[in-house]
Amino acid sequence: MEELRDKAVLITGGGGGIGRATALAFARAGARLMLGDLDLEAAEETARQVAAIGGEAHATRCDVSRPEEAEALVREAAARLGRLDCAVNNAGIEASQESTARLPVETWERTIAINLSGVFYCMRAELAAMRASGGAIVNIASVLGLVGFAGAAAYVAAKHGVIGLTKVAAIEFAARGIRVNAVCPGFVETPMLERVGVTSDAERRALIEGLHPINRLGRPEEIAGAVLYLCSDAASFVTGHALVVDGGYTAR
Ligand SMILES: NC(=O)c1ccc[n+]([C@@H]2O[C@H](COP(=O)([O-])OP(=O)(O)OC[C@H]3O[C@@H](n4cnc5c(N)ncnc54)[C@H](O)[C@@H]3O)[C@@H](O)[C@H]2O)c1
Repeated sequence: MEELRDKAVLITGGGGGIGRATALAFARAGARLMLGDLDLEAAEETARQVAAIGGEAHATRCDVSRPEEAEALVREAAARLGRLDCAVNNAGIEASQESTARLPVETWERTIAINLSGVFYCMRAELAAMRASGGAIVNIASVLGLVGFAGAAAYVAAKHGVIGLTKVAAIEFAARGIRVNAVCPGFVETPMLERVGVTSDAERRALIEGLHPINRLGRPEEIAGAVLYLCSDAASFVTGHALVVDGGYTAR
């Protein structure tokens, strides 16, 4: 994708599975990157991997659930890269796996704060930064932004909210040349799935794989491909869309 060469791209959660794969895919396309993550060391490791393939990436610590930190991250991205062309709001935490009746209020609030409000805080600042020259924003939602999943009330609510937020911003900013889309991955092999015991337990893994007609977990690179497409000129007429990349999870 030659048109992504030299583009200034911000990725939140750039130290993790999907964020890191997306950073490397953008770097291969010649884009310049700002990576924000709660885990600075992880973001720095991604930056090292980007440098190793000849790319440019800056890493900084940021908690997207704090509005002032989200704003500072966008400011820093625009300052270090000279402008902001694309933003990928990817930072997120996993579902807590408790029934709705027993879900602690603190877990609900933390999940909403990071997975929904964090996207809003970042996007608010990104839209302002892109106002003059246009751009593309991609929010990482989930298939659980489209359908329910037992034991994931806060996560499912947050991801449904991300898709709603995506549609509203897309409508509001279409005339200003800013496209806003979401990607809805099925279950993807990342550290997140290891933490919730999907990839560390053979039986659980087989069960989750079976929910996807393709009968395997997604690879982070497969999500990165969709993000790059939505940021590219090939998607110039695509906005307000929630692109499912799920091995058929939502097809049945
Ligand atoms: N892995 C999956 O199966 C899957 C499926 C659908 C959607 N997603 C979504 O994709 C995104 C990336 O997930 P992943 O699987 O790569 O997870 P991951 O845990 O590998 O990476 C997430 C990254 O976000 C960072 N992060 C967490 N809280 C943060 C905060 N408050 N501020 C800034 N950074 C923070 C983490 O440090 C980590 O580097 C998430 O939004 C997740 O909900 C994942």
